[in-house]
Amino acid sequence: MHFSKIASVLAAAVLASAENTITFLNQDPKTRTLHFTGNPYMEAIKPVTVQGFENVTVGIPYGWVGNFFSVTEDKPVVPGMLGEVAFNAWAGITFFDVSAIVNPHDHDGVKRMYPASAEEPFSGCDLFPCNFAYYLPDDVQTRATHETDLICTLGDHEFSEWTTKAKRTTEVDAPVFARDFVQGKWTPKRN
Ligand SMILES: *[C@@H]1O[C@H](CO)[C@@H](O)[C@H](O)[C@H]1NC(C)=O
Repeated sequence: MHFSKIASVLAAAVLASAENTITFLNQDPKTRTLHFTGNPYMEAIKPVTVQGFENVTVGIPYGWVGNFFSVTEDKPVVPGMLGEVAFNAWAGITFFDVSAIVNPHDHDGVKRMYPASAEEPFSGCDLFPCNFAYYLPDDVQTRATHETDLICTLGDHEFSEWTTKAKRTTEVDAPVFARDFVQGKWTPKRN
């Protein structure tokens, strides 16, 4: 193998392991724009627009900790239902959850998040309110996965051809974690 070939194979491997993604599935005809807010020192992620019924995959930098919200076309840009993520975090695990703490009245944007390979474990609701999102900071609703590709559904699931029509009401048989884990605060506190 030529050196250049080896170098490109190595580069591809590094990219593959460094790249995280969130794929936004827009479940109804409304156009939405996702706005990302990183923790201090995190790389900025530009807003991304998703057309009605479209899916858009957004690359997320290695180790990125922050949140995002969705703004429906022609609506004011105010924080809404938050998707919160900490990629490649404690023990390399990716933590995620949906939080209504900042704006519990946004029932038009972020709905549910889950790893790309399966719909479980999930956080969030098809119809708010439900028991799978943060309403109070000391709730315990954060989910964890070894995957680095997440899905986030947006909008009204009853419009879409492919989502489950029923509201999910069953408990998910997977561990939940404190909100610290999705906020980058998992390092032991010093005295
Ligand atoms: C969006 O993703 C869903 C779930 O994977 C799929 O069923 C649907 O066909 C996709 N829509 C488009 C427009 O690609």
